[in-house]
Amino acid sequence: MESFVNEVNFFEGNNPEDIAAKFGTPVYVYNERILRHRIRKVAGAIKNYPYRANFSIKANSNLEILKIALEEGINCDAMSIGEVKLLEHAGFPAERIFFVPNNVADEELKYAIDHKIMVSLDSLSQLERFGVLNPGGKCAVRINPGVGAGHSDSVVTAGKNTKFAVEEKDVPELKKVAEKHMIKIVGLNQHIGSLFMEPKPYIDAARNFLRIARQFEGLEFVDFGGGFGIPYHKLSGEKEFDMDLLTEELEKVIAEFEKDYGGNILYKSEPGRYVVADSAVILGRVHAVKESYEKRYVGTDIGQNVLVRPTLYGSWHDVEVLREGKPVLPSSGTRVVSVTGNICESGDIIAKERELPIIGEGDLICVLDAGAYGYSMCSPYNSRPRPAEVMIGEDGSVRCIRKAETFEDLIRLF
Ligand code: LLP
Repeated sequence: MESFVNEVNFFEGNNPEDIAAKFGTPVYVYNERILRHRIRKVAGAIKNYPYRANFSIKANSNLEILKIALEEGINCDAMSIGEVKLLEHAGFPAERIFFVPNNVADEELKYAIDHKIMVSLDSLSQLERFGVLNPGGKCAVRINPGVGAGHSDSVVTAGKNTKFAVEEKDVPELKKVAEKHMIKIVGLNQHIGSLFMEPKPYIDAARNFLRIARQFEGLEFVDFGGGFGIPYHKLSGEKEFDMDLLTEELEKVIAEFEKDYGGNILYKSEPGRYVVADSAVILGRVHAVKESYEKRYVGTDIGQNVLVRPTLYGSWHDVEVLREGKPVLPSSGTRVVSVTGNICESGDIIAKERELPIIGEGDLICVLDAGAYGYSMCSPYNSRPRPAEVMIGEDGSVRCIRKAETFEDLIRLF
């Protein structure tokens, strides 16, 4: 595909130059139709067993997006009390929030307990603290199934090299701690890592996970975690993650489990990226073009403060070039360039040595698949206020869903 934004009619008939003129650049632009479609796809993934998808809001916690998630009927998981409070603020009732923290202070646990929010504990010591705070209570425990996966070592969250979850050999000890405080472990969760494009690691982990789950009696739910990938190389033909194949395989694993464990279990997943990634692009402006030691650089206002994934993980985001509001297609000629930002670091590169259509000053750069871990990982580094986020509605109207920060925001806390 030469242009994703054309193919899916991303701007719904709007001229991206008008959006850039009205909201400035850089700006995050979301498409509501794509977002809702994704939510529905993941919410209806498992059909033959009781199932709930929890949107993992660390990927994107914009209040407007949370409200759409609320309206579409999916549940959410939160990693911090900040995320729990955002969900409450968006209107989520306690029973639709799952708090899955790591190494939290008693105050955070207490907040969740007081607000009747289900908590998952991910170590013996956190379970012990929970037990002291909430004797006789109910909780979940995060299990490490021994299989991990992900696009970078720093996002693999199961297997032998991770701080997360409790390994199988500690199950007897878990039960002892629970018994001591009369806690009922009613749920188990796992999350093997982020971004895999094949169902296999998830299915292997699910099998191990359910084998471990058999050691617990009276479970009400098991949560297989998230991590489903999206095609970041869509311009070169990368295919979608095969959600149908995953659910088909997963349902077989569940059927095996229910043969001896019995039914009455709610199955859950925790997708973050899959829900929001391709519902957003970033528009940025080209302010300089130069050659240095035979390398060509395109200087934009999309710095690592706006999108840190390429700098942090070496992640790939497809890039399109827009001139007078229309994509400039690679078939009109290309050149190898590095698209960089305006931050004082040499690693501030959005696309390194990439073959792109010929780019000139004043063009718009459109970075694809920016909806997940995009704005949620933004920072005001180099004292650049965070950008605005806007949403293109299903009727084509464009609304601001978060204003750009201003200089006043930079000095607000002094
Ligand atoms: N559940 C738990 C417990 C998690 O830790 C995560 C992500 C998710 C669910 C959702 O994973 P997803 O479906 O989005 O892959 N900043 C990195 C990704 C970090 C993921 C952290 N945990 C990135 O930009 O690729």
